[in-house]
Amino acid sequence: MILVTGAAGKTGRAIIRALAKSGKPVRALVHRSDQVASIKALGVDEALVGDLLDQSDMERAVRGVRAIYHLAPNVSPDEVSIGKTVIAAAQSADVERFVFHSVLHPQIEAMPHHWQKLRVEEQLIESGLPYTILQPTAYMQNILAQWNQIIEGRYAVPYAPETRLSLVDLEDVAQAAAIVLTEPGYIGATIELVGTPAMSQIEIAEALSEQLGRPVAAEVVPHEAWARRARASGLGENQVLTLIKMFCYYESHGFTGNSNVLSYLLRRQPTSFADFVKRITNE
Ligand SMILES: NC(=O)c1ccc[n+]([C@@H]2O[C@H](COP(=O)([O-])OP(=O)(O)OC[C@H]3O[C@@H](n4cnc5c(N)ncnc54)[C@H](OP(=O)(O)O)[C@@H]3O)[C@@H](O)[C@H]2O)c1
Repeated sequence: MILVTGAAGKTGRAIIRALAKSGKPVRALVHRSDQVASIKALGVDEALVGDLLDQSDMERAVRGVRAIYHLAPNVSPDEVSIGKTVIAAAQSADVERFVFHSVLHPQIEAMPHHWQKLRVEEQLIESGLPYTILQPTAYMQNILAQWNQIIEGRYAVPYAPETRLSLVDLEDVAQAAAIVLTEPGYIGATIELVGTPAMSQIEIAEALSEQLGRPVAAEVVPHEAWARRARASGLGENQVLTLIKMFCYYESHGFTGNSNVLSYLLRRQPTSFADFVKRITNE
């Protein structure tokens, strides 16, 4: 049995779909009972409702599991406490593999949510558990939040259009997760998951224009306007401020990595941004 935490978010669902293809039994830990039905529809064997901060919930969740795929909620101020709770539960269950869903460049202190993931990596390395750490860069799927606007020709970003980022297809991340969970040879490894070379936001808009067959231009959203919309959509103040720090970091330094590592793991080239856009426009 493989336990997937944070299972009802977009990452958890993608990983569960990839594991379902490999036919391995999966237990999904979700936050709320209204998430159970849609998770069961993805083919999991068991769906448990529990709190990642609650030791007894986590001990119940890890009972009888062979492997754990741990992912924390996005930009969570509780990332380190959650990591502590899940790692302690894993130690009590004597699991064969613990895979932590981290992030590319967790070493960057200027991005607090990255730095918190580094603290979880540190706990895991010191835990004595047989671990693997995956470090994905920003997902291509993040642009889907503004897809309707993109179709109308506007690709809006809260940093300069010249900002260069390496992206990764979440479907490639999920396949990588299934490989390290089910194949031998990855205990003790820390693996960066990067799908594209560094692309400026202008290049991303050009790729969108080409694939959609209509002009799409990159434009800047000022931080105040971005924050207003984020708060209105329910994002907490801590998350808003953390994400603005990330945008400032992106603009100053870019956020780039090397896609060869992911191609070694997948034994094929990672999905390009153009192919990702082709796929989603055909879905
Ligand atoms: N987006 C990217 O580009 C990217 C890149 C690299 C790494 N990552 C990392 O990927 C991870 C997953 O991101 P995501 O956007 O898929 O996750 P998400 O949707 O924010 O969260 C996953 C799930 O965790 C649940 N949750 C929240 N608090 C909980 C608690 N106390 N106990 C149990 N469950 C709880 C949420 O339930 P509710 O719906 O009830 O809140 C949600 O269903 C994050 O750690 C993120 O940093 C993301």
